[in-house]
Amino acid sequence: MATSLLDATIKSPHPSFDHAFRADVLRGLAGRAKSIPARWLYDETGSEIFEEITQAPEYYPTRTETSLLRAHSADVVRQSGADAPVVEFGSGSSLKTRILLEHMPKTTYVPIDICGEFMEAACAELRARFPKLEILPVEGDFMQEVPLPSCVKSSDSAAPEALGFFPGSTIGNLLHAEAVDMLRAMHRTLGDGAWLLIGMDRAKEPDRLIAAYDDALGITAQFNLNLLTRINRELEGSIPINHFRHVARWNAERSRIEMHLEALHDVRFEVAGTPFTMVRGETIHTENCHKYTPQGMEELLAAGGWTTHSHWSDADGDYSLLLARACDPKCG
Ligand code: SAH
Ligand code: AVI
Repeated sequence: MATSLLDATIKSPHPSFDHAFRADVLRGLAGRAKSIPARWLYDETGSEIFEEITQAPEYYPTRTETSLLRAHSADVVRQSGADAPVVEFGSGSSLKTRILLEHMPKTTYVPIDICGEFMEAACAELRARFPKLEILPVEGDFMQEVPLPSCVKSSDSAAPEALGFFPGSTIGNLLHAEAVDMLRAMHRTLGDGAWLLIGMDRAKEPDRLIAAYDDALGITAQFNLNLLTRINRELEGSIPINHFRHVARWNAERSRIEMHLEALHDVRFEVAGTPFTMVRGETIHTENCHKYTPQGMEELLAAGGWTTHSHWSDADGDYSLLLARACDPKCG
């Protein structure tokens, strides 16, 4: 077997993503309230467009979280130790991770992402920047317990506990029950005593939230509509993409932004040989982005088996960075 970094990506042990994509799309379009799980927004193009979103003036979460990481990474590493293996969930470009890794440049880094191509490019850049870092990428779905390379989850009790990293408020893309399940799976993946550094976005004025998810340059619209392009390309779809528009709505009752794709006309199309119709104004729900209260964040972490140790925020109270620990009764 070749041993280069790029060839060494551990592939998902689950049935092929192509099969899962097809099943999710066909199921999601068949219902009366149409929806497709948000994870399918991230093919290589979707991941690239997401990086552009992070630079949009209206999209405050990336800037704010980056500042919080600059301010608090040293504190985090004082707790976890500089040799703690870092396991990142939904690593994308790994750009924020660099801030953390500056304090732990010789450790092991395990990025986990569903988009293998984009992750591999990010790993190549990291390798050039941190030559002493061991990088062991895993292409997989973080909703399941992820088998980690054996050098990370060691049975040696003297080995450092892992530091999980889940930035970006990606947890907000999950429903409450899914988020709790995921946090529990993360606890099983990382083990008792592990640390978790997680970024979570706070509820704020709806106008700011809607602007962040419907930016003036139309980058988020492009991100959302790319899902239809992906369906047409990968699932032999005939969706008339220019008959859809991006919509971002604030759902106050559920404290979340919802992204939808709205049909501008009555439309008919096929996906993988199955016919579908939509009437004008009907939507496909493509993403939820939950926004939390400070107390709600800590309660969610606790429900998933994590005790909050530190909770940092910016001066405007826009965003939170939390350090939590997976506790069995022994750890304090
Ligand atoms: N952590 C980065 C990227 C956030 S974008 C940041 O904070 O900027 C969300 C990332 O999670 C994408 O890279 C996407 O491919 C990945 N992702 C989404 N759903 C996933 C899933 N179910 N399993 C693994 N990765 C997933
Ligand atoms: C990755 N995730 C946390 C982003 C968010 O803000 O919910 C995805 C995104 N969707 C539209 N803009 C950004």
